[in-house]
Amino acid sequence: SESSPTILGLPLKYVSLVTLAVQNAALSIVMHYSRVFTPPSQAYSPAAAVLLNELLKGSISLVIAFVRVCNASDAPWSRKPLSAANRLYREIFSPDCWKLSIPAILYVVQNSLQFVAISNLPVATFQVTYQMKILTTAAFSVALLRRRLTPMKWLALTFLALGVGIVQIQTSSGRKPQKEIPVGSASELAPFHHMSPLKGFGAVTAACFTSGLAGVYFEMVLKNSKADLWVRNVQLSLFSLIPALLPILYAPQPLNSRGLFLDLFNNFGGWAWATVATQVFGGLITAVVIKYSDNILKGFATSLSIILSFLASVVLFHFRITPSFVLGSSTVLIATWMYNQPAGKEVPPIPNVMMT
Ligand code: C5P
Repeated sequence: SESSPTILGLPLKYVSLVTLAVQNAALSIVMHYSRVFTPPSQAYSPAAAVLLNELLKGSISLVIAFVRVCNASDAPWSRKPLSAANRLYREIFSPDCWKLSIPAILYVVQNSLQFVAISNLPVATFQVTYQMKILTTAAFSVALLRRRLTPMKWLALTFLALGVGIVQIQTSSGRKPQKEIPVGSASELAPFHHMSPLKGFGAVTAACFTSGLAGVYFEMVLKNSKADLWVRNVQLSLFSLIPALLPILYAPQPLNSRGLFLDLFNNFGGWAWATVATQVFGGLITAVVIKYSDNILKGFATSLSIILSFLASVVLFHFRITPSFVLGSSTVLIATWMYNQPAGKEVPPIPNVMMT
């Protein structure tokens, strides 16, 4: 389809996959700390974070799209911005822009579920169960993109999910969560630590489905049309604003309200901003990965991030490498190798009855 672009001589496809792996490792840490290190009385509003995420991502994408249209335009220099703005407006509000409303709603729901999950489950448990999105993504790729996966690839995907689970179970036993609570504030944190695992698991499971469906749907929209990735991103963010604003508009107002939008950014401190920044960056990178690679490979990149973050903690925090880490990461590596085996020519492409 499209010629593969490069960045500093390296294929964008691989650069974006590695960047996503690093971003993923950072997000779970920053997001968790932003919720756990603050007493409930000083907690920020997840709805505000979700809204801000969309506003920032949309604005950045708009600027990138604008610069691209400007560069491509052959209008005289002085008239470039105006003609570019005109053209961009027509592209953004194109007749098929409604297609983005589906992934937009799904992503907002997913981003909100993520906050529910991370507040009700230990971080490692959250990460283990969230890996099931590898399988939901594959299932939706088969169903919606008519992608054929050989039994070998399904086996590889199952191993991938298993391996990630093994690495993370071991990570969770290596951490001592009670040590995360700053001394002196334990009583204040107590209500926040009343987690509801059932609610957490429900949220993660639902998030796995929205993740798989939204990602594959976005991939379908991107790959079935010529429209620019950044224009698609702007459309996505625009549609996201509706579901992101609804819970804010319908939230009960506190008695000493300073006004809807001022209340919203109460307690929005450094960690909250760091969470949003990491999410915005992640959203942009995810879009690039989906465009130049695909959703299934994205699953492999994020699995890699789990190994990376573990190795980083060995170096930084003197974590010890344990047998289960070795077992889990070998499983991930073998799964990656299995998935990337070219299908043997001697095997005819048998229609996969199970999946249709
Ligand atoms: O975990 P998963 O890969 O499903 O998460 C995708 C994340 O990327 C979501 O938080 C979503 O909001 C974001 N995203 C985005 N823009 C895109 C595609 C995904 O912000 N075009």
